Amino acid sequence: MDDSEGHSRRRFLAAGLAAGGALASAPLAKAASGDPAILEVQPWANELGDGVDASGYGLPSPFEAKVQRRNVPWLTADTTTSINFTPLHALDGIITPNGVCFERHHSGVARVDPADYRLMVHGLVERPLVFTLQDLMRFPRHNKIYFLECTANSGMEVRSAQLNGVQYTHGMVHNVMYTGVLLKDILAEAGVKTEGKWLLAEGADAAAMTRSIPLEKVLDDCMVAFKMNGEALRAENGYPARLVVPGWEGNMWIKWLRRLEVGDKPWHQREETSKYTDLMPDGSARRFTWEMDAKSVITSPSPQAPILHGKGHTVISGLAWSGRGTIPRVDVTLDGGINWHKARIDGPSLDYALHRFYFEFDWDGSPLLLQSRAHDSTGYVQPTKDALRAIRGTGSTYHNNGIQTWAVNGDGEVLNVEVS
Ligand code: CO
Repeated sequence: MDDSEGHSRRRFLAAGLAAGGALASAPLAKAASGDPAILEVQPWANELGDGVDASGYGLPSPFEAKVQRRNVPWLTADTTTSINFTPLHALDGIITPNGVCFERHHSGVARVDPADYRLMVHGLVERPLVFTLQDLMRFPRHNKIYFLECTANSGMEVRSAQLNGVQYTHGMVHNVMYTGVLLKDILAEAGVKTEGKWLLAEGADAAAMTRSIPLEKVLDDCMVAFKMNGEALRAENGYPARLVVPGWEGNMWIKWLRRLEVGDKPWHQREETSKYTDLMPDGSARRFTWEMDAKSVITSPSPQAPILHGKGHTVISGLAWSGRGTIPRVDVTLDGGINWHKARIDGPSLDYALHRFYFEFDWDGSPLLLQSRAHDSTGYVQPTKDALRAIRGTGSTYHNNGIQTWAVNGDGEVLNVEVS
């Protein structure tokens, strides 16, 4: 037994005690006797396998074919212009594969020919400019891993527990590595006039998505990205170039970016007045709620990922993120919030990026109420849904970062519930 095993063994026992579980645990694998899967020669060991990928662009194993973006039929009338969700229950680590990043479109997927792609920069600038894609790629490049969360992620869960799967309750988030150039470098080329304080970003899709962004944020860390996870942006993610607004709501990350206008005040476009403002109980609305509040969720076990192995050593896996920095700590409870245990964060801890956490415990087979609670680098702690509702009411589906509860029954099946 090396040090790391000894460490994990101690953690495991401590967690089992804390959860009220058995002291001695069953081994993690069964004894090696009589198993035909190891005693008999399997078909794949008896014949020549497939040749190299004939399609030229590989797909996951056929055994993983169920891992797909999915929509909720009753939520969206059609799939042409609306929403699908990332299969968070089937993923691990922090990087979202490009083919399963959730989609949200306001006028469908624009098919922009990169040869005809142009980015116009105008308004309060010394030199109005038009960039081709090749022009943009001549600025210094940067690689950054960021989450992108739709403001309406978990919006259906504001009033009560609704959707039976983490894919649907939390799947409007993804996390990829962007390659792109800094907006401050592009704007320096155009020369922002001293009265310039805001930037309007507009998309080339038929919705002409437009959002106002304060220049302070633009010049801090906003990017124009043309690659995600090393390859060209997918069409549904804004090919050939999109805006990246780290930590801020996804609606501002304009896809198929075609126009940047510098101004001295916000424009108050549709997407920042009638939409993407948060209605409060007194009838007023919060505007410019840009930063995504710290949030976490257990991705497995969850309704689409039940416990299949029975009682004994069990691994909880989940995600946490904050639009204000990193996640130094995540707590997990097995009993609906009576006792909290510190989870283990594994993998990179980066500003405005998904963090992966784990909690290992010895399950005694009794029902569980699983929750996770994120702490971000500003000291903010993820609230309960009741605490959010006490302040905001239930009139807005935006910015629900409340604690999610999964109920596990004795058979390992998982349901979306609430505890209060
Ligand atoms: Co907002």
